[in-house]
Amino acid sequence: MTSNINIMGGVKSLKDIDVTGKKVLIRVDFNVPMDAQFNISDDSRIRAALPTINYCIDHNACSITLVSHLGRPKGGYDERYSLTHIQKRLERLLQKRVEFIDDFETLKRENTQCSIERIFLFENIRFYEGEKKNDPAFCKQLGDLCDVYVNDAFGTSHRRDASTYGIADYVDTKVAGFLMMREIEAFTKALENPIHPIALVVGGSKISTKITLLTSVMQKVDKLIIGGAMSNTFLQALGYDMKASLVEADFVETAKAVLAEAKQYKVKVYLPVDVVITDSIEHPIDVKVVPVQDVLDGFHAVDIGPATLKLFSEAVELSNTIIWNGPMGIYEINQFSKGTYKLATIISESYAYSIVGGGDTVDAVEKAGEKEKFSFISTGGGASLELLEGKILPGFEKLDRKS
Ligand code: 3PG
Ligand code: MG
Repeated sequence: MTSNINIMGGVKSLKDIDVTGKKVLIRVDFNVPMDAQFNISDDSRIRAALPTINYCIDHNACSITLVSHLGRPKGGYDERYSLTHIQKRLERLLQKRVEFIDDFETLKRENTQCSIERIFLFENIRFYEGEKKNDPAFCKQLGDLCDVYVNDAFGTSHRRDASTYGIADYVDTKVAGFLMMREIEAFTKALENPIHPIALVVGGSKISTKITLLTSVMQKVDKLIIGGAMSNTFLQALGYDMKASLVEADFVETAKAVLAEAKQYKVKVYLPVDVVITDSIEHPIDVKVVPVQDVLDGFHAVDIGPATLKLFSEAVELSNTIIWNGPMGIYEINQFSKGTYKLATIISESYAYSIVGGGDTVDAVEKAGEKEKFSFISTGGGASLELLEGKILPGFEKLDRKS
């Protein structure tokens, strides 16, 4: 009962407090993808915050201040990262007026008159230096704006920033929003009370970023399915020559250690048996499928092949819980996307409890048109990874606890 997930699940949520007549500040994660004209290409994160915002409206909070970051601005105001780009979509989704405010003085002044229900959207909090520094004076300035602090920014909950972490020291009542709780519930189902067998499907380019994950889940999962460029390093560790493919030479020994550990814990490991190879990633002319034993000189492995897909399909179809993080190839390039998209379809159609995390993986699942069929899609990339790694996310750390 002392896992990181259980600890985080023990925080108070909005349901445990009364927001009537209170000034509520909600840290949301509106860090959504946009095109060059600032059109939002995926508003899932905004939609995911609606239950918390609506609850505060329905329970007569006297004001709601929404705080978020967008992108990674460096050094103050930058139009590309302004939260003005979010305002209209938010108004449409909430069907309410949202007042955009870009400075603290105005926000403080407007927020003191607390007789009518108002919704403020504050400018990108990362335009302020104190945010990333978790500067105490800045945390206090934020805390002073509200009676109740609600953290609902699951996607940013792995950051120790002023609005996700330090602010809690300056507010008496601090709780988790519904999105935070939903995410914890989903991961509880996958990791704490799972129906075995559990398969962890990992991909993406680097072992180095997933190594903590691989070692921390070893005692929990039954199957480890490894694809994407990171599988090249594993294959190299098994003695195959992956030629020009991306291999992390410094991690070949690590890969061997992971395989040995899997054996020790009786975790079944599935690696590609065939791969799609290309003479060039940017300008492919010669693209073919070969067994992993036969990668050609000068060629790069860029996707899993059909035999691997069959192997992985059988492994996931015989699982009852599937956790997926990381694409199977360079899915952004159409020619190399098949493995990832087909696996998305296979997992989504399985009877297992399926949970997907990680920005790229969620994007791939969406592009494959399978988003609706997964049991749970996490709004967190780095945050969901750290959760799987067994860490306590800073965004939960300072919240009030249920006795
Ligand atoms: C994300 O998209 O991963 C979150 O919004 C966190 O953003 P960050 O990685 O810039 O902190
Ligand atoms: Mg990130």
